[in-house]
Amino acid sequence: PVKVQKICCIGAGYVGGPTCAVIALNCPDIQVTIVDLNQARIDAWNSKDFKLPIYEPGLEDVVRKARGRNLFFSTDVDKAINEADLIFVSVNTPTKKSGVGAGFAADLNYVELATRRIASVATSSKIVVEKSTVPCRTAESMRTILEANSKPNCHFDILSNPEFLAEGTAINDLLKPDRVLIGSLQTPEGIDACTALADVYANWVPKERILTVGLWSSELSKLAANAMLAQRISSINALSAICEATGANIDEVANAIGFDSRIGPKFLKASVGFGGSCFQKDILNLVYLSESLHLPEVAAYWRQVVDMNEYQKRRFAKTVVDTLFKTITGKRIAVLGFAFKADTGDTRESAAITLIKDFVAEKALVQIYDPKVEHEQIWLDLAEAIPGTPIEAIKKQVTICASPVEAASKAEAVVIATEWKEFKEIKWEDIYATMDKPAFVFDGRLLLDAEKLRKIGFHVTTIGRGAA
Ligand code: NAD
Ligand code: UDX
Repeated sequence: PVKVQKICCIGAGYVGGPTCAVIALNCPDIQVTIVDLNQARIDAWNSKDFKLPIYEPGLEDVVRKARGRNLFFSTDVDKAINEADLIFVSVNTPTKKSGVGAGFAADLNYVELATRRIASVATSSKIVVEKSTVPCRTAESMRTILEANSKPNCHFDILSNPEFLAEGTAINDLLKPDRVLIGSLQTPEGIDACTALADVYANWVPKERILTVGLWSSELSKLAANAMLAQRISSINALSAICEATGANIDEVANAIGFDSRIGPKFLKASVGFGGSCFQKDILNLVYLSESLHLPEVAAYWRQVVDMNEYQKRRFAKTVVDTLFKTITGKRIAVLGFAFKADTGDTRESAAITLIKDFVAEKALVQIYDPKVEHEQIWLDLAEAIPGTPIEAIKKQVTICASPVEAASKAEAVVIATEWKEFKEIKWEDIYATMDKPAFVFDGRLLLDAEKLRKIGFHVTTIGRGAA
């Protein structure tokens, strides 16, 4: 197998950036260049004051250590491709918005464009690694494109190496992964390429955690892992509705079932619904794959995980309206948290967006506070979620605030949409003082001490908790 000396990563996003920065940190002998077409993003990665384009705990530290040493960010895609012996393709694969499979299938246009770029500029053999999440058998299409367009004496080996990091904990996940998965064709060349990539990870990942499998298993395992994780959340959220109707407590139920070592305690937190760029997209991708394979029962089974999530978001919004005497017209609602989970500035598919959209439709005045999300991003998300309404009109109903107290000012209700730790540490007496009465709190994240809040005077509704 070749010994990898130069790596190029195409795509400087949430995955490409942190993943390859950690590779650079742990492999000082390998030169790592992360490239992107987006000049602003690359400028941010290169910024002198380390104002990186994504917020991720621990990331700045890694970039400070490696940038300029063996880690480089550039928009010169062709040069980086040409120099590298191994190329990660880590571009976005969003759900298609139009055409065949719209609303379900993954849009593979960016993967294809990156692959064609590699084929057209490479003058030597390369190992090409799918890092993006893709439908099963995408590697085959990549190989066909590479082989049809390559120069003489250029040979391409294709690997699948899906990424399992979660946002907010990406650096820790990358430094201490549960496993690294590498899929290859089971040919001598495929196995050699697989060994070359495994040797890169072996610089810091214990050998027994580096799993090598067939290409298609690797591709499918990524969709399967996300589908199973999301399914746990939809299962616990489905149970949270039963809890609310019966007086059972979802935390107690989750704890009780999580003690079963076969079930395990993690990822059983009821919520206002899962968000993020991956779960919904990857399940819909799996649904589409199942349908394409003429497996309608399998498709329907996984689809239900997404349907349950939509139900959970809508159910929570309805609880808010019903509790506020069935109307929120003209009422101020504070929404604390806009990111799809804590410790990230990412808002993709955030449940907060659906809630706010519903509150706006009910003609409420929404006051948002999030400690990390850029204001511009909030306006972009709301404009997209509420099509046909000019942003000026949205701004008449929605304001973005600089603190939780400001968001709660004159509000009738506070809604917790993201589990930011700082919301636990708010001086809730101050919030109470500024709100209209009766003052309501809706905890969509099982974050707050409801009893403590009730002592202050709040009416508290917690997801998955019925009246005692
Ligand atoms: P992202 O949108 O943050 O980053 C993708 C980047 O690729 C963008 O900056 C874009 O400009 C760039 N790009 C697109 N086409 C390009 C091209 N032809 N040449 C150069 N640059 C190009 O996306 P992301 O969140 O990093 O996700 C990337 C992939 O990883 C997706 O397939 C996603 O499903 C998968 N994934 C994401 C996560 C996550 O937590 N975000 C986790 C695991 C896997
Ligand atoms: C997920 C997978 O965890 C990761 O392995 C994969 O690589 C990418 O997709 P991510 O979306 O970044 O990662 O975050 P994750 O921690 O999985 O949370 C996803 C959503 O589920 C968030 O909205 C989170 O708040 C929610 N969630 C998570 C719950 O509602 N309850 C839980 O118990 C866990």
